[in-house]
Amino acid sequence: MYNSKIIGLGYYVPENVVTNDDLSKVMDTSDAWIQERTGIKERRHVVKGDGDTTTSMGVKAAKVAIERAGIDKDDIDFIIFATLSPDYYFPGPGVLVQRDLGIKTVGALDVRNQCSGFVYGISVADQYIKSGMYKNILVVGSELHSHGLDMSTRGRGVSVIFGDGAGAAVLSREENLEKGILSTHLHSEGQHAEELSLIAPGMGKRWVNDIIEDNDPNDESYYPYMNGQFVFKNAVVRFSQVILEGLETNNLTPTDIDLLVPHQANLRISQFIQKKFGLQDDQVFNNIMKYGNTTAASIPIALTEAWEAGKVKEGDLLVLAAFGSGFTWGSAIIKW
Ligand code: ACO
Repeated sequence: MYNSKIIGLGYYVPENVVTNDDLSKVMDTSDAWIQERTGIKERRHVVKGDGDTTTSMGVKAAKVAIERAGIDKDDIDFIIFATLSPDYYFPGPGVLVQRDLGIKTVGALDVRNQCSGFVYGISVADQYIKSGMYKNILVVGSELHSHGLDMSTRGRGVSVIFGDGAGAAVLSREENLEKGILSTHLHSEGQHAEELSLIAPGMGKRWVNDIIEDNDPNDESYYPYMNGQFVFKNAVVRFSQVILEGLETNNLTPTDIDLLVPHQANLRISQFIQKKFGLQDDQVFNNIMKYGNTTAASIPIALTEAWEAGKVKEGDLLVLAAFGSGFTWGSAIIKW
């Protein structure tokens, strides 16, 4: 029995900055509304045609993480890729990363758990490492949202929130069982699947030929839908529960937290959690102001930035927590 620890972190975001004022030129919104409701000031959007995809951004983040881990790409035993915006309907981006990084023919698994995707991914990696099956696992979270958003006023409740980017982590075997990932906690409630969803194209209700045949300018089925207030209310409850669950499992309390890195869904959600657990500003890492909600990429981007800023120190107790479409939610308790 082993633990797993994060030995390398990296992120990549496209250069193109889209401010709230930029959005207000194409839809009826304002910098004041977006900042007040979400905390977001700007986000990154891939410029169409510049070659960046969910996979290529993931590969760029992965290269940084592997280099920082100080291992060779061929030391990686398994790849896990979390996204809701894959390059292809199939195959998933895990195998594309294997190909593009030139890694030998190791297994590649795709995780479809949206904003919780990275926490689900490291949980899977952790189990493989704990059992001794694999030693080094690459976990990537990457999203290219911008090409699939409704950038008209009709889509403003969703489109202003999401941004593009990628983050990656290398998890490795740790023999000291008091260090590394202490536990992970995963949940789902499919009853609310459609409250935050993108229904088409899918084999369930509408495939591409249905969309083409209908040729309906009012068709919103291929844009993301979010029942914002319902999602918000569930998010604050589930975030709190799953953080407490993780702490209690390890006989810890909120006062033991050195740094909480929450999924960057909405600054108001992070602030609610911070207040609930009595944490100081420097105990909760937020970067949603710069990147918006990058879904599966948001935790690894935030964690990398926190680490680069020296906010993650040896011996610190870190909590990662996420909630999103599915609904799915999860947490990871890490002794750095
Ligand atoms: N600009 C200006 N006005 C807007 C915008 C916009 N971008 N978007 C909506 N509005 C308007 C609405 O039309 C509405 O107007 P009305 O009162 O005249 O009908 C009004 O603002 C209020 O709209 P609400 O949707 O009620 O706004 P709310 O305060 O709930 O904020 C938000 C919306 C930011 C989306 C919030 O509900 C939220 O953050 N929800 C949670 C998001 C989340 O956590 N997602 C999970 C992760 S995502 C994932 O897993 C993929």
